[in-house]
Amino acid sequence: MLIANPRSSHTSYPGALRDILNIRAAHESGAWLSKWEQISGAATPLWDLPDAAAALGVSELRLKDESFRSPLGSFKALGAPVALMRLVMRQWRAHDIEPKALITGHYAQMLSNLTVISATDGNHGKSLAAAASSIGCQCVIVLHANVSFEREQAIAAYGAKIVRIDGNYDESVEHAARLAANNGWHVVSDTSYEGYEVIPRDVMQGYGVISAEIVARLNEEPSRPPFTHVFLQGGVGGLAAGIASYLWEHYGAERPNFIVVEPQQADCLYQSAISGLASRATGSVDSVMAGLACGEASPLAWKILDRCIDHFMTIADDDAIAAMRSLARGSERDAPLVAGESGAAGYAGLAVLMKSRDLAQAAGLGPTSRVLVINTEGATAPSVYRELVGETANAVEARQAAWKLRVVQ
Ligand SMILES: Cc1ncc(COP(=O)(O)O)c(C=O)c1O
Repeated sequence: MLIANPRSSHTSYPGALRDILNIRAAHESGAWLSKWEQISGAATPLWDLPDAAAALGVSELRLKDESFRSPLGSFKALGAPVALMRLVMRQWRAHDIEPKALITGHYAQMLSNLTVISATDGNHGKSLAAAASSIGCQCVIVLHANVSFEREQAIAAYGAKIVRIDGNYDESVEHAARLAANNGWHVVSDTSYEGYEVIPRDVMQGYGVISAEIVARLNEEPSRPPFTHVFLQGGVGGLAAGIASYLWEHYGAERPNFIVVEPQQADCLYQSAISGLASRATGSVDSVMAGLACGEASPLAWKILDRCIDHFMTIADDDAIAAMRSLARGSERDAPLVAGESGAAGYAGLAVLMKSRDLAQAAGLGPTSRVLVINTEGATAPSVYRELVGETANAVEARQAAWKLRVVQ
């Protein structure tokens, strides 16, 4: 399903949105994160996929590969640590805290009684747990019933205390808020709700690092025109807001078209586009795309998305699985890539649209389009990846290494 957003604007980036997300804060976040051991020192790859572009019927297809961002396995490594650092700096304002020393544990003794808490579907919680461990504070993570034991173990490995509830993601968010209020803990959530916007804003500012790297890379290739379309997978909407806001501020009226892709069962952003307000999903919210299985849009992210996402679409779980397999296969000119269930969703959205002449036309996609997709995670649940793709992430990585050797020769 695909719908156009009648409120999307192609003017310059509005000042009211710049007060929420802006390039300056994204760059500041990137500078702080560069000192964190959990973040790769180099920009993540921007792969060229010429064979996939030809097969799908577009002029150019590039994939920003966040599976390389961090040992944590996803782009979420950019959000939680920034929000945690800003939280500590606000709480201990008089101490004139140096952010790069904070993330390397310099203030651990002072912070040992601070406890942060969040609900999570996996990736945000793992990043928060790792960031809390690096700065030296306590961390509690609330998991809903559908988060796999494998993901739980990956979070617990960073020293977080795990609280399991029977309900879904939204109930886990409410549970975390209650525990925080009763114990004097601080919620560090990637989604906003009434009266809670500062921390989710800081999380989204961190995601702007992805766009900063994309723009820097394109500046090195002045002969290549900018992208016409960017596909962004949506959970609560933070990733899409963080990336799109930066590109909108940078390109102004010449910005690319943005398309948000969600699971059919967790269509909260699609429903928000219909109602014009941050809304709830209509489906079961249970999807193989675990990171996108969110029932309620983040109202703060929605303020940005409402103004700049040109189309919203939903895909089936099978579309995401087909995209994971296709990316893993690679080809003569396209590297084999490890994309997790949520990671492959943007690529899956493009593939779905290009299969239908009407849908492609409705989204303005065709043989002259230059498309960017983001792989937001690697195999963050390795056994799920193996089951869905039919081989291990290590096997795909080995073929990627062999492909690189062949291409370099
Ligand atoms: C791998 C992955 N991709 C995309 C998303 C969507 O991000 P957001 O919830 O900010 O829209 C998530 C969220 O957890 C995720 O884990």
